[in-house]
Amino acid sequence: MSIFLSNPSLLRNGFRSLMFLTPSVSISYSTCSVLSSDDSHRKKWRQPVVSALELGGVKIAKEDVVREDPTNNVPDSIFTKLGMQLHRRPTHPLGILKNAIFDYFDTNYPNKFDKFDDLCPIVSAKENFDDVLVPADHVSRSYNDTYYVDSETVLRCHTSAHQAELLRKGHTHFLVIGDVYRRDSIDATHYPVFHQMEGVRVFSPDDWEASGMDATSYAAGDLKTCLEGLASHLFGAVEMRWVDTYFPFTNPSFELEIYFQDKWLEVLGCGVTEQEILKRSGKTNNVAWAFGLGLERLAMVLFDIPDIRLFWSDDERFTSQFLKGELGTKFKPYSKYPPCFKDMSFWLSDSFTENNLCEIVRGVAGDLVEEVRLIDNFTNKKGMTSHCYRIAYRSMERSLTDDEINELQWNVRDQVQSKLNVVLR
Ligand code: DAH
Repeated sequence: MSIFLSNPSLLRNGFRSLMFLTPSVSISYSTCSVLSSDDSHRKKWRQPVVSALELGGVKIAKEDVVREDPTNNVPDSIFTKLGMQLHRRPTHPLGILKNAIFDYFDTNYPNKFDKFDDLCPIVSAKENFDDVLVPADHVSRSYNDTYYVDSETVLRCHTSAHQAELLRKGHTHFLVIGDVYRRDSIDATHYPVFHQMEGVRVFSPDDWEASGMDATSYAAGDLKTCLEGLASHLFGAVEMRWVDTYFPFTNPSFELEIYFQDKWLEVLGCGVTEQEILKRSGKTNNVAWAFGLGLERLAMVLFDIPDIRLFWSDDERFTSQFLKGELGTKFKPYSKYPPCFKDMSFWLSDSFTENNLCEIVRGVAGDLVEEVRLIDNFTNKKGMTSHCYRIAYRSMERSLTDDEINELQWNVRDQVQSKLNVVLR
């Protein structure tokens, strides 16, 4: 889901999530195997394992990413996700979807699009923001929204972070897919790590001059045709509509929505690339289009996956349900274990943010937390504001005991008080 929409209220329908600094308890570190071969799904994920990863040809040690430093807000639990590369597993719903999108481009544009699915997710703030013209005061740059490794380095919050570099290197048709990281709230469609695909196509004057159209109209027309074809390839014959929107890197900018399972579903954001981006990449005589889509939101509807945490499950009852090349196998829930709700009320401090609260809850409960929801909010006569949050704990795999949940909740309460300076009521 986009962070760049003009209407922030739309964000709640989207797919993003979050976290905060976790104390160094013995959390496991995952390995980053490179999974491109067909038998990759048979390789066992070693967990717990190493404290260094190899990503996109870059060696990353845990100390490079997680530090006790005010300019670093990456918790251990996020480091463990860095090397997972779910999108490179051919029998994982995200890998199946990625390959279905690749197939569409391979069929319609044989040998045209260069594909990148192993670019390092640690990028400079310049690449993530400046190079795609994100304004200096844009909220997505804040420590509350983005994971910073240090003041100049981030975990990419979108695959658009690679646009400028690839253009500079001379690529004119490319697809980038990768894990992206965002601090956010917690519910069934939000997780601090998710996956995006970026597409870019550059045109030369020859392309549009013969059409008699101006360059921008030509690119916008081609973009729409291409993406409508992609949507039909993935969803079949569905009704579609284009909605005008805003992104810093494109003008004009659009979203494509499809009518699917009785509602309008936003599929992707796109537009005609801002000329400034092309200019800085040495392409002054060209015009280009770009698009970005979130894989989880599409995979959840295509495969009927009800909770975003399931993508991270290594429970065989989940992983064994999907087959290489089979888009749209419907997930059969193996069991729905009961949720347990815990409420927590406190007086806010000036520095309180919901993302920081959620980071603490995830740091303590990991994937046992299903939702953190504000259920009460009031300000008293002295101007003090109280929030009450309801935390839903539920495992995807087993029943949780009362003792276990109580311990989690006490731990959350302790940390919320000590780290967020709020006063529990
Ligand atoms: N980067 C955008 C986001 O994460 C998605 C996006 C929108 C990418 C439009 C694009 C684009 O390339 O043209 O919200």
